[in-house]
Amino acid sequence: MPGDWFNVRTRARFGRDVVDGVSMVGRMIREWIRTLRAQCPPWARQLDLVYEHAAIAARHRRMRTAWQPHLARSREIVLEGAGRCTSFGRALVIGAGDCLDVPVDDLAARFGEVVLADIVVSPVARALARRHPGRVRCVSWDATGALEKLAAVRATVVSAGARRIFEEADPGPPPGGEPDLVVSANCLSQLGLVPGHALPAARVDDALPDRCGTTAAKQHLAWLGQRVGAVRVLLADTARLDLGPDGREIKRENLLARLPLRRPDHAWRWNLAPIPEYSPDIARIHEVGAWIDVPAA
Ligand SMILES: C[S@@+](CC[C@H](N)C(=O)[O-])C[C@H]1O[C@@H](n2cnc3c(N)ncnc32)[C@H](O)[C@@H]1O
Repeated sequence: MPGDWFNVRTRARFGRDVVDGVSMVGRMIREWIRTLRAQCPPWARQLDLVYEHAAIAARHRRMRTAWQPHLARSREIVLEGAGRCTSFGRALVIGAGDCLDVPVDDLAARFGEVVLADIVVSPVARALARRHPGRVRCVSWDATGALEKLAAVRATVVSAGARRIFEEADPGPPPGGEPDLVVSANCLSQLGLVPGHALPAARVDDALPDRCGTTAAKQHLAWLGQRVGAVRVLLADTARLDLGPDGREIKRENLLARLPLRRPDHAWRWNLAPIPEYSPDIARIHEVGAWIDVPAA
C-alpha cells in the first residue's frame, strides 16, 4: 500500500539520518581528540591554527582518493628539488603538517637531518620523527613570527594593526640552522588568512583575512628568498575555483595575484572537495603551482 511504502521510506530516511548524525558526532570527537594531541603554543590555539590543522587532516581522511594525484605530484616536486642539491646536510620543511605532501622517508635517506617545522606539531609528524631517530625532528615554529603578538591583541586589533604586525614581524633564522633544501609545503595561502579569520574584527571587515594573507605571504616569500645557499621549493595554491556538476567554471579567485612571483615551474589542479563534500552542486578545486630555485652559481 502507498501508506506502507511511505512509512518504509520515512523509516529508511530516519535510519540514514541517525547513521549520518552518529558518524558526524564520531568525526567531531575524533577531530577534538586530535586537537588535544597536537603540540603548539597556546596563542596558536587562540588563532584557530590547531582547529584548521585538524580540519585538514579530517578532510584528507574523507577525500583520500581525490587528493592522491596532488599529493603524489607535490612529493615528486620535493624530490626534484632534493635532486638539485649539491650538499645534503639539512632539509627543512615549513608547514610540514602531517607530511601528506612530503616524502619524509626519501628525504631522511638523503639528508643528514630533516627538520619538520610547523606551528602545530601533530602526532603523525612525531611518529615520523620516531621512525628516523636522530635524523628527523619536529619543531613548533611560527613561519610568520607574528602570531604571538597578534594573539596578544586579538580582541581589539583591526585590519591596519594586524597587517602592521605581519609586516614588522621576523620569524628569525631557519629552525635548526641554514638548510641545503628548504620546502614551503602548501602553507603560503594559510599563513595570514587563518589567523586573520580568527580575529573578532574579521566579523565586521570581510577584507581583513585577505589583507593579512597577502602581507604574510609577501613576508614569507622574502624570507625564503634570503635562503640563498639552499635549493628552495615553494608549493602553493594559486587559485580557488568552483565548478558546476558539468565541470563548468562558476567562480575563480586568484590567491597570489598581488605577490611577486614568476610563472610556476609546474602547475596542476588539486581536487580539494569533489561534489558533495563542499556542496551538493559545486566542486571546489585549487590550482597549485610549484617553484624550484637553485642557489646562484
Ligand atoms: C595546508 S597545510 C599543508 C599540508 C602539509 N604540508 C601536509 O602535508 O600535511 C598548511 C600547514 O601550514 C601550517 N601553518 C599555518 N600557519 C603556519 C605558521 N605561521 N607557521 C608554521 N606553520 C604554519 C598549518 O599548521 C598546516 O599544517
